Amino acid sequence: MSARGRFITFEGIDGAGKSTQIAALAGTLRARGIEALLTREPGGTGVGEKVRDLLLGMEMHVDTEAMLMFAARREHIAAVIEPALAAGVWVVCDRFSDATHAYQVGGHGLEAARCDALEAWVHPNLSPDLTLLFDLPPALAAARMAAAGGVPDRFERERRDFFERVRAAYLARARREPERFRIIDATRDAGVIAAEIVDALDGRAWA
Ligand code: TMP
Repeated sequence: MSARGRFITFEGIDGAGKSTQIAALAGTLRARGIEALLTREPGGTGVGEKVRDLLLGMEMHVDTEAMLMFAARREHIAAVIEPALAAGVWVVCDRFSDATHAYQVGGHGLEAARCDALEAWVHPNLSPDLTLLFDLPPALAAARMAAAGGVPDRFERERRDFFERVRAAYLARARREPERFRIIDATRDAGVIAAEIVDALDGRAWA
């Protein structure tokens, strides 16, 4: 039987530049002969992508928002993440439960105990092996998104103070779990960030 795969998540406010780095990390892993699966939340399954459309397109109560995030996550874990990890495949996921703590609790004021309860229900025994938190000032992230163009979704249209709260919630979580998190200064050039991610990976005993 192959060894269990590793679970790596990427987090950060919108406009932090995660996408480029996720693709780069997948390339690094594959070059090392590691089978890697790239996926995202909300989404990653047929059900999850439909739930994503609802979440990104429609206004709703924050409790509904949190429950839908975790409903999509439940499906994602059962259908994609757990089977892959069990088969020895590494899973690289664009956002996971830290995003619900940061966006719904930090950003939208969801009661933290509710988020904790949903997490304990949906994945009591699953936690990322490594979480790369892309950190940068919301003003810079907003400028990058504006320069990139495109139609902003419901979250991307939030005000600057919302992203300040999301950023603060992410950083607070990272400080509570320094072993799992690596805070990446996302204001720097893509090449420098890619090198730091490889360094973060190589610093883990399991990599
Ligand atoms: P993405 O644009 O990075 O794919 O993420 C979609 C949006 O959903 C992004 O603005 C963050 C938000 N989100 C939450 O609010 N809570 C969550 O639990 C997740 C996974 C994403």
